[in-house]
Amino acid sequence: MEQQRKGMASPAALAMLACAVLVMIPAVSSVRYIVGSNMGWTNNNVNYTIWAQGKHFYNGDWLFFVYDRNQMNVLEVNKTDYENCISDHPLHNWTTGAGRDVVPLNVTRKYYFISGKGFCYGGMKLAVLVENPPPPPVAAPIKSGASTYTLRGQIVIPAVFAIAAVWDSFLRVW
Ligand SMILES: *[C@@H]1O[C@H](CO)[C@@H](O)[C@H](O)[C@H]1NC(C)=O
Ligand SMILES: *[C@@H]1O[C@H](CO)[C@@H](O)[C@H](O)[C@H]1NC(C)=O
Ligand SMILES: *[C@@H]1O[C@H](CO)[C@@H](O)[C@H](O)[C@H]1NC(C)=O
Ligand SMILES: *[C@@H]1O[C@H](CO)[C@@H](O)[C@H](O)[C@H]1NC(C)=O
Repeated sequence: MEQQRKGMASPAALAMLACAVLVMIPAVSSVRYIVGSNMGWTNNNVNYTIWAQGKHFYNGDWLFFVYDRNQMNVLEVNKTDYENCISDHPLHNWTTGAGRDVVPLNVTRKYYFISGKGFCYGGMKLAVLVENPPPPPVAAPIKSGASTYTLRGQIVIPAVFAIAAVWDSFLRVW
């Protein structure tokens, strides 16, 4: 009886973990940043330069702008227009009208966002540098063409299997 239960537990646990791995990789490989965190995209005293400080934005991440759709908007501009708050000819108008706009950071470069309607002058401007994710700490040499998803997924998989080992030994005790 003991022996049989032991035999059953591990495959079941592994099957569940296989599902967990599949679910977790996409969740961890990209991060969706709410711009301004709980303050959102607002003219209420948020310094977005400070908000972005210390954060690492990687190719594949998203910015989520949450704001008052009746007042602000989200415009991607070039460096000059970012510095001077010029909203006349944006590179991209991300404003959808819902006050909740998602911007995919899918190119490794500097991105510049401002709110038009005068709010840029009050500080509603954000510059982020989008980088390639760092190589995983203990992984084998990276082959060219390795995708960002793989790189960031690899960090998670050992953690999941560490949990699997603990779980398995827990089951064996019983
Ligand atoms: C930004 O765009 C404006 C208008 O098109 C242009 O005059 C300016 O040189 C551009 N700046 C950069 C850094 O590309
Ligand atoms: C941006 O797009 C929105 C929605 O289509 C539109 O209402 C708005 O006028 C546009 N703003 C600019 C500055 O192009
Ligand atoms: C990045 O995303 C934008 C908006 O979805 C899309 O138009 C563009 O083609 C994408 N670029 C790349 C390099 O995937
Ligand atoms: C935001 O903080 C940065 C760094 O401290 C500073 O240089 C900048 O002037 C501030 N921006 C505003 C709009 O206060």
